[in-house]
Amino acid sequence: MKYIIMLDEKFIDYGKYELESILKSEIIFKKISNKLFIFESEKDISKDYSFIVIEGLIKVVELGKFPPNAIDYTKITNAIEGMIDRQHSFKIEAINADFHNEQSSKDIAVKIGSALESKGYRPDLKHPKLYFYIFFTNLGIYFGVLQSDYAINIDAFRSTEKSKISRAQFKLKEALKYFAIETDEIKTVLDIGAAPGGWTLEMLTRNAKVIAVDNALLSYQFFFQSNKKCVIFSDEKIDIHDKNNNSNNAEILPLSKINDTLNESFDLYHIKQNINNLDINHINNLNKSIDLLMIDMNIEPKESVQQAIKLIKFLKAHAKLIMTIKLFNNENIKKYIKNVNEALNKYYDIIKIKKLPHNRDELTLFAILK
Ligand SMILES: C[S@@+](CC[C@H](N)C(=O)[O-])C[C@H]1O[C@@H](n2cnc3c(N)ncnc32)[C@H](O)[C@@H]1O
Repeated sequence: MKYIIMLDEKFIDYGKYELESILKSEIIFKKISNKLFIFESEKDISKDYSFIVIEGLIKVVELGKFPPNAIDYTKITNAIEGMIDRQHSFKIEAINADFHNEQSSKDIAVKIGSALESKGYRPDLKHPKLYFYIFFTNLGIYFGVLQSDYAINIDAFRSTEKSKISRAQFKLKEALKYFAIETDEIKTVLDIGAAPGGWTLEMLTRNAKVIAVDNALLSYQFFFQSNKKCVIFSDEKIDIHDKNNNSNNAEILPLSKINDTLNESFDLYHIKQNINNLDINHINNLNKSIDLLMIDMNIEPKESVQQAIKLIKFLKAHAKLIMTIKLFNNENIKKYIKNVNEALNKYYDIIKIKKLPHNRDELTLFAILK
């Protein structure tokens, strides 16, 4: 059986370890393009494994080898037709991996999708039951199917998305989706290491109230554009002049006003301070009011873990934690994962860790307070 996996090359050793510990045999990966590898295995790999660094896994069959610039659509469509039934709606994702043809991936997907539709199959671009992946590679053309629950974010294969505020915003979107976090019930968020504000913006647009802590300024104009009312607590003189002339919905108050102001009806409370210099005992108003704690500081994982424990007194029962584990040394992933798990599992349940498509030298952790 052949499989194509999506895996960041810098995590290849841990990826091999993840697969080999399931398959109990050595795996040889062949790289087919940036982030895509193919391998063979005698054993079938169930789709239920929750890998950490392997971002996606698709069982594939080879449709053939075609010379570049000469995609035979009829041959591809006929081959796919023999492997699927008409019962389920589908969407085609074409991945042009180092295969130099003039057609864009989208054009290829549209051509094959239309050919299948004319034969009575049901395309559904919004809510397909099945995703058909076609990989055009120099080794051959491969086809695989995933049910929509297991579908891989195809944009991550292409890695072209640009964030408005920061790449971080996509990390959070992916975390909310991957860990199936229902945001409707999240009313109050504590965001530590919040600048420039991608995570904060994401939660504000989901109608949560956000308390953001970072010594750096946030990109306030994005919050003003979405009509969010902001208060910034800072003892330094700061300039948040908006060059786009968006109405400036921000007040700037000294840090001593935090406690008096937290109950007022602002959407964002930015405490412009290093969390280590902030006397959190002075934020009495936060007592057990936080539904979601988010930590995305660029610091050693053990320090992020210390904050995740120190801030528990502000969290509601069963509050959620989303935390980035920065990997300062990719070779030590096993050790980082073990240490973080051991330190948190006394306080938090259901600790899950995942390398999300927009994570770079880092992993994302999700946990629920006991
Ligand atoms: C990767 S950025 C966070 C990106 C952010 N989540 C977003 O969505 O835009 C890391 C941030 O952590 C902040 N940081 C690092 N150490 C900190 C500390 N001790 N207290 C508060 N913020 C800290 C840095 O100032 C930096 O803005």
